[in-house]
Amino acid sequence: MNPIDELVSVKEIIVCAGSGGVGKTTIAAAIALRAAMEGKKAAVLTIDPAKRLASSLGLKELSSEPTKVSKRKFTSAGLEPKGELHALMLDTKSTFDKVVLRYAPTAEQAERIINNRFYRNISGTLSGTQEYMAMEKLYELHADGGYDLIVIDTPPTRNALDFLDAPKRLTDFFESRVLRWFLLPYMKASGGIMRIANVAATTFLRIVKKIVGAEVLEDTAEFFGNLEGMYEGFKQRALDVAALLKSDVTSFVVVTSPAEDSVTEATFFATRLNESGLPFGALVVNRVHPSFGEPVEVTPRQLRRLEEGDDRDRLLGKLLTNEGRFRKLVTLEEKNLNSLARRIPRHLWVRVPYLRTEAVDFPGLIEIGDRLFDAKADAV
Ligand SMILES: Nc1ncnc2c1ncn2[C@@H]1O[C@H](COP(=O)(O)OP(=O)(O)OP(=O)(O)O)[C@@H](O)[C@H]1O
Ligand SMILES: [Mg+2]
Repeated sequence: MNPIDELVSVKEIIVCAGSGGVGKTTIAAAIALRAAMEGKKAAVLTIDPAKRLASSLGLKELSSEPTKVSKRKFTSAGLEPKGELHALMLDTKSTFDKVVLRYAPTAEQAERIINNRFYRNISGTLSGTQEYMAMEKLYELHADGGYDLIVIDTPPTRNALDFLDAPKRLTDFFESRVLRWFLLPYMKASGGIMRIANVAATTFLRIVKKIVGAEVLEDTAEFFGNLEGMYEGFKQRALDVAALLKSDVTSFVVVTSPAEDSVTEATFFATRLNESGLPFGALVVNRVHPSFGEPVEVTPRQLRRLEEGDDRDRLLGKLLTNEGRFRKLVTLEEKNLNSLARRIPRHLWVRVPYLRTEAVDFPGLIEIGDRLFDAKADAV
């Protein structure tokens, strides 16, 4: 059985991860689409600000609430789905607001945070928030229990490992002792109970105030002041999310292209998953140039002779030159991929060829899905 097909039939969560531009969003959508075809109520949670996915699913846009892909979309492509396909796009800001509302001890405190200027600036942009909120949204969708399968795409991080570390980095940042130590005198000024003058921090703050302005500093201090009492909640949720990701309802699908840097990242990523006790499911090698036929061996001398010959010889010469170049590319890709085979056993590999058309519309997505699910694993 195709390793991805197997995951679709038994898992509740599939996380598509990999480095930038390898095809995570496309593969995630193709997997959810297949699950819907096979009778599941499937959702794809995407983090694709380019809105490519929305248009390929025939939706004007994706919101942070699931939208059902119309049955007509399937029937007009000649498909008869037994289940349903829903799609949603991560809205970092509104997910963050929900988190604040959930953990703030009072509604007033939540409102103070949500209206805080510092919060408004960072909630959509702070490094790691997108990853943290993606996991948060996934947890929420899964806990609601409305779907048989949730496929989640991961953010276009330069480094595929980033999203594993992000939730911790973010909670560490909020809880950062150094930051709070520096802001303490300011918190006091804005009504805190701090009594001991902190000379170093006060001097530091005076300098910072000159640079960023008093308002920014007040907003920041107010924000961190209001977060008091919420850290335990954040931490508990991060633990729950980690437990869900590690449980056997979840599986990670690592997507890579055959290019050297993306293969290197996939190798690191598989290692990290393993070290963190996260369940690896399959590897998708996307956009491979397929090898075909027996290699034709020609010497440079034979080629030169063909080029000097008649029309038919010259044409043959051109074909052989092209074939040689193509084969070089395939050989290079295989060499890159061989290093990955030491980490990930080949029976968990699925290859998707480089297709002529990009998966920008529904038929394109279906074609990628067909290639993905009809492919046999590299080895049994
Ligand atoms: N097998 C394929 N053949 C041809 N084009 C492909 C294939 N797979 C994906 N693409 C195209 O490659 C582009 C990048 O794919 P996609 O957006 O899914 O990558 P991504 O990993 O999600 O990128 P990002 O890291 O930016 O989010 C898209 O235009 C998509 O249509
Ligand atoms: Mg993407």
